[in-house]
Amino acid sequence: MSTTSQARRIGVPEIRARKGGEPIVSLTAYTAPMARMLDPHVDFLLVGDSLGMVVYGFDSTLPVTLEMMIAHGAAVVRGSERACIIVDMPFGTYEASPETAYRNCARVLAETGCAAIKLEGGVAMAETIAFLTARGIPVLAHIGLTPQSVNAFGGFKVQGRGNDRAAAVLADAHAVEAAGAFGIVIEGVPEPLARTITGETTIPTIGIGASPACDGQVLVTEDMVGLFGSFTPKFAKRYAELGDQLEDVAGRYATEVRDRSFPGPEHCFAAEPASKKDS
Ligand code: KIV
Repeated sequence: MSTTSQARRIGVPEIRARKGGEPIVSLTAYTAPMARMLDPHVDFLLVGDSLGMVVYGFDSTLPVTLEMMIAHGAAVVRGSERACIIVDMPFGTYEASPETAYRNCARVLAETGCAAIKLEGGVAMAETIAFLTARGIPVLAHIGLTPQSVNAFGGFKVQGRGNDRAAAVLADAHAVEAAGAFGIVIEGVPEPLARTITGETTIPTIGIGASPACDGQVLVTEDMVGLFGSFTPKFAKRYAELGDQLEDVAGRYATEVRDRSFPGPEHCFAAEPASKKDS
């Protein structure tokens, strides 16, 4: 990675400085071509461990490995030039101790070229976040409906409903801020709670199913464009139905192969090239 390409990118301090300003725009990306298409439109691309469900077909994010995240993170860095790139730490790679977290996060930063990592957890992860940030690893925290806790939650359920639970999520937000996180993804919580967290913290909040009260928004791109059919959460607005389009195109291609109308003469090579274009 050249220093010139690093210099063009939006950095962590710029994301951090957007608190209370123009809303921060983020989408997930897992591949270089997708990163290339989204790069001009977003402030940061999140290489989310949602790729376990969206790309690999698992029914949760739990089977995702560090090697998967590193391979996809590096692809997204290669495919983009402007957006800040943040890579998710997968389940089991950062919870055991701050030292283990440091070793694995350092690998992600060094082997992908990303700017920061994201990890799930609030109060319970504060010590680790402090350890990482004191050693130069920028951390985006993720609280509320944290998908790696799907078994503890008994499903992908809205979090922070009721006074006690709202207070616990608010305490998570304060803990990760005090530990040095530069931002907080808040997922699947009621609007009033997201508003309180955003108002009471000095770092940007990025909402997903957490209302427009947040300082920015993130969506899983495949949810947004209709490319991931098995489960669409209420908060994922469908801006397009590319999955339907792809099925239609595949059907047309299959018909044309079977009736031999594809390939046409324009897709075939002559024995001798008529022009350079034809070789
Ligand atoms: O893995 C992911 O894509 C995420 C977002 C949904 C925030 O964590």
